[in-house]
Amino acid sequence: MTVKLVTMKFQIQKTDVLSRKTPCAVVFALNDELLPSAQQLDAALDHVLSKMLKDKDLKNKPGYIQWLPVNNVACERVLLVHLGTTLDKKATQLEAGNVITAIKSSAATLARYPVKEACLYLDDIFSEKMPELRYHDEAATPQWLAEQLATLFTKATYRYTETLSKPEPKPVLSKLIYVCNDANRSRTLKASLERGAALGVGINFARELGNLPGNICTPSFLADKAKELAANSSKLTFRNLTEKQIESMGMGAFHSVAKGSDQDSRLIVLEYKGSSAAKSRPHVLVGKGITFDTGGISLKPGLNMDEMKFDMCGAASVLGSIKALVEMDAKVHVVGIIAAAENMPSGRASKPGDIVTSLSGQTIEILNTDAEGRLVLCDALTYAERYKPKSVIDIATLTGACIVALGHHASGLYSNHQALADKLLQAGISANDRAWQMPLWDEYQKQLDSNFADMANIGGPAGGSVTAACFLSRFAKKFHWAHLDVAGTASVSGTHKGATGRPVGLLVNYLLNA
Ligand code: BES
Ligand code: MN
Ligand code: ZN
Repeated sequence: MTVKLVTMKFQIQKTDVLSRKTPCAVVFALNDELLPSAQQLDAALDHVLSKMLKDKDLKNKPGYIQWLPVNNVACERVLLVHLGTTLDKKATQLEAGNVITAIKSSAATLARYPVKEACLYLDDIFSEKMPELRYHDEAATPQWLAEQLATLFTKATYRYTETLSKPEPKPVLSKLIYVCNDANRSRTLKASLERGAALGVGINFARELGNLPGNICTPSFLADKAKELAANSSKLTFRNLTEKQIESMGMGAFHSVAKGSDQDSRLIVLEYKGSSAAKSRPHVLVGKGITFDTGGISLKPGLNMDEMKFDMCGAASVLGSIKALVEMDAKVHVVGIIAAAENMPSGRASKPGDIVTSLSGQTIEILNTDAEGRLVLCDALTYAERYKPKSVIDIATLTGACIVALGHHASGLYSNHQALADKLLQAGISANDRAWQMPLWDEYQKQLDSNFADMANIGGPAGGSVTAACFLSRFAKKFHWAHLDVAGTASVSGTHKGATGRPVGLLVNYLLNA
């Protein structure tokens, strides 16, 4: 099975709302007013737009929309979208979060209607006398917004269909025209739209892998997907260790997790060498790829256990990030390492109290077989040493405790190098894919003490996300390292159950600036 995703095209055009023929013109309102393109339409359409605004048919809230089928103008339909209110009465500052909400709602709406193409008049917010766009206490640039827009629209057209016998038809929206009448600005926006779209493709790829069930998305399936990526790009090389090789090379921690399953485990290596960066030392991404986590002999309770198919989302984010870099033709050097295994109970599975020797030589007492992520990751981290990396970032749905600490909005960030942590935090802000730094203090380390081995694989109920990170830190002494616990951010539960593609945005943003 090949993971194939249809994606949108983005174009910049100089035109105006009264002359541009299109199935749909998307125009905007802010506070109690229409933005310039909406005003032009309003005048041509008997003031129906301003009436809707005045009568509160269109609520003054970011993302509220109204459709208008129209006659006698160049466009076939109008989608009027509200940007909400400015931060201040004098309308000098506009919160970018509102604009993002408005873009998300426009994209979700357009993807549900039979329109193949839409013209978006959002550049109006950068015309004269408009409030300044603010994002996290800084001025947001049109380039940043264009990139966000392309990512958000690309994400909005993703649908999971792979295992549905009668899937809904896919969205027909395939082209978005970003109208910009400022020649200087248009020149810079093209690259932003392309970058944003490429990022969206990478995010959707990660989502698809995450959403596929555990009986399809197995360790060997992940290896096949990595191999397929490499087959389609001369800048990628693929390597792959099988379970036998993992065991014989001394990855006793990794193997202790994999051995209970009938699925063969894999250590997948995908190296991306962008031009000119090829000779530099690489940045390494290490992804947790537990394709299903039953907990092993320390079996999990049944409720919501299906969601443990998302336990490979760290691995998916590594593949998604590399896919985005390929699409962008980024000039970076990145090695992706994925520790892929299935955590199962069986007669061959590890038991509580078992002691294993990691690739680093350190011994580990497995007190809980459900703390398996750190066991596969520690050996992958040691394996990363051979690349003499500039930085190593591991990404893992590692602990339920991280969800307790941070909920579903921020990924947990830990690092042994503050400059690296700062870069990642900043990348998360830029990408609207935030992380929050957690402590990695020595005081927590002794919770991992064991009477029978160099360390235990769990540190007790207190600070469970921190002690998991402490465990990993013992295998990351030889390089600048950061750990992202994405247990709360990589997927959502409930009616919209599914993988989010996080933290691909953060990672790609970091790699492009690293
Ligand atoms: N994959 C889980 C963490 C997880 C839990 C991710 C919920 C997403 C949602 C991980 O392997 C795990 O089971 N962790 C244990 C660690 C404990 C045994 C120390 C946990 O969080 O309960
Ligand atoms: Mn587990
Ligand atoms: Zn797990």
